[in-house]
Amino acid sequence: MIITISDAKNHVDKEATIQGWMYNRRGSGSIYFMQLRDGTGFMQGVVTPQESGKEAMTEAEKMTMESSCRVTGKITAHPKLDDVFEMQVTKIEAIQIPIEEYPISKKEHGPDFLLDNRHLWLRSGKQWAIQRVRNTIINATYEYLNNEGFIKIDSPILTPNACEGTTELFEIDYFEEGKGYLSQSGQLYLEAAIMSCGRAFDFGPVFRAEKSKTRRHLTEFWMMDAEMAFVEHEGNMEIMEGLVCHIVKKCLEINQKELKILERDIEPLKKIEAPFIRKSHAEVVKELREMGSDIGEKDDLGGDDETILTQKYDKPIFVDRYPAEVKAFYMKRDPEDETRALCVDLLAPEGYGEIIGGSQREDDYDILMNRIKEHKLDPKVFEWYLDLRKYGSVPHSGFGYGLERITGWICGTQHIRETIPFPRLINRIRP
Ligand code: 4AD
Ligand code: MG
Repeated sequence: MIITISDAKNHVDKEATIQGWMYNRRGSGSIYFMQLRDGTGFMQGVVTPQESGKEAMTEAEKMTMESSCRVTGKITAHPKLDDVFEMQVTKIEAIQIPIEEYPISKKEHGPDFLLDNRHLWLRSGKQWAIQRVRNTIINATYEYLNNEGFIKIDSPILTPNACEGTTELFEIDYFEEGKGYLSQSGQLYLEAAIMSCGRAFDFGPVFRAEKSKTRRHLTEFWMMDAEMAFVEHEGNMEIMEGLVCHIVKKCLEINQKELKILERDIEPLKKIEAPFIRKSHAEVVKELREMGSDIGEKDDLGGDDETILTQKYDKPIFVDRYPAEVKAFYMKRDPEDETRALCVDLLAPEGYGEIIGGSQREDDYDILMNRIKEHKLDPKVFEWYLDLRKYGSVPHSGFGYGLERITGWICGTQHIRETIPFPRLINRIRP
């Protein structure tokens, strides 16, 4: 019977076949330990002349790294380790023995070599684990938002206008229509959608022609935007907090094995619970300056600022009310201080930094029109967006998270390029 490695626990002391790849092999003429992988997990197959027979020994000897195969034998529980199973192999059927030697070996490879071979690197244990955690985050997001009354609305990727800074736009020629752009965030479209369905979210690839070469930036990444009618600044933060707690809880529940492979210390993740830390931009600037940063009162937080600030705390930090001039045109101003926006970024602890950006939206037609002009944007292309403030405008808020940033934090990866299957960076579009 063909089984999956993840199901081996239900077949102890029975004969079974698994199909997958041999990613490594140890031993010599008298015994072979085949390291097998089938997508669901990892298992060792033991091959000896006495138990497995001559034929299996010959096959085991022929197999090289990354041979695909079907391997049959008795499943046994590891004598010492809990939840670890082995196979006492009796039959090996090689499906394909690699045509050439597999380029990724056990020895250390530099990041460029691994990224050039991303299509193969994805097979390694850590990369497998990261993608599984990413998948849990996606599912946990759908689950949480559905429970909170959101429905998924798919926003377009080809757009006629910018959402975030125009300097980071990918431009395309759009037939007779002139210039088009790749979406930076589906937010503006969700603002239209919530006037129909109240609460909505989208989840898809977004693009930033950002010249930043940092561990936190990709040119293509996955964003989840959430938007809510009749929710203001405080309510917006509560949903972010609930969502992040739910995501972390789910990863700790489902991905114990993966986090172990990643050597992620899970103690800090266990501390993630509401309420998160709440600070204003003004407070944070003061604190950062005391820590030696040269951040100015009207500056956005730099990458290093985010790092040092979040290393200091073991909970996520909400930083709200940034100076309006460093933020996007659509943000509502703080009624208590018109120079500040009713926006909030959520920073992950342990030096990870911004994972979510959000705000209450400007809902007044005239004010929004003026902002569009102040930001030197063309009111013509924002006509449809302004219409939302013409017909039954309501207070509303929303936020967007970067999936790779959250995955990087939970997995404990240094650079977020490892958290997306095929990273796009300013100097990389292949494979
Ligand atoms: O802060 P950002 O730019 O916010 C928006 O785009 C809003 N329109 C979202 C909204 O309110 N619906 O981006 C949101 C998040 C950031 O907090 C960060 O996690 C991630 O997207 N992000 C990036 N991730 C990887 N590479 C980049 N270049 C990123 N830029 C932003
Ligand atoms: Mg941001």
